[in-house]
Amino acid sequence: MVDPERFRDVMARHAAGVTVVTTAHPSGYHGVTVTAFCPLSLEPPLVLVCIGREQQSHRLLEEATGWVVNLLAREQEFLAEQFAGRAPLADPRFSRIPHHLGLLGIPRIDGCLAWIECRPWARYDGGDHSIFVGEVVALDLGPADDPLIYFDRQYRELAW
Ligand SMILES: Cc1cc2nc3c(=O)[nH]c(=O)nc-3n(C[C@H](O)[C@H](O)[C@H](O)COP(=O)(O)O)c2cc1C
Repeated sequence: MVDPERFRDVMARHAAGVTVVTTAHPSGYHGVTVTAFCPLSLEPPLVLVCIGREQQSHRLLEEATGWVVNLLAREQEFLAEQFAGRAPLADPRFSRIPHHLGLLGIPRIDGCLAWIECRPWARYDGGDHSIFVGEVVALDLGPADDPLIYFDRQYRELAW
């Protein structure tokens, strides 16, 4: 038997870059903080994100015609907290969050390390999560250089 607390403690030892996955829905724009992001394939260009089945964003991604993975910069910790629901989201429609709309009309957050815009490719069962695979339709580097890292339940920065 795997003890759930032990499982969490061990997984907290996995250092991960922090992303915000954005999408557009008739009810408005949406973003969710995600560390379960992984580049998957170059030909065709695919990436994946894993989203908990209970999350609002799970339903939104199931229905979405596209989504953007925004790789957060060190100084964007407040965005990670905001999109994890831990800080009040004063404006869910993004009017106070600097962004530009991408090819698919989805917000690309300004000031990130990079952004990756995807169309849905596949969704796989992952227990209490789903694995959403996206085909990359556009991507580019942003102005930032230093990543926001999540390790041992805390935000960190790289020690160069
Ligand atoms: C650092 C960090 C990383 C997270 N990574 C994920 C993740 O990879 N997948 C996920 O489903 N939720 C993840 N979460 C939790 C969601 O961001 C959080 O549950 C959010 O409130 C869900 O919002 P929603 O119900 O609007 O989708 C993470 C939270 C934090 C703080």
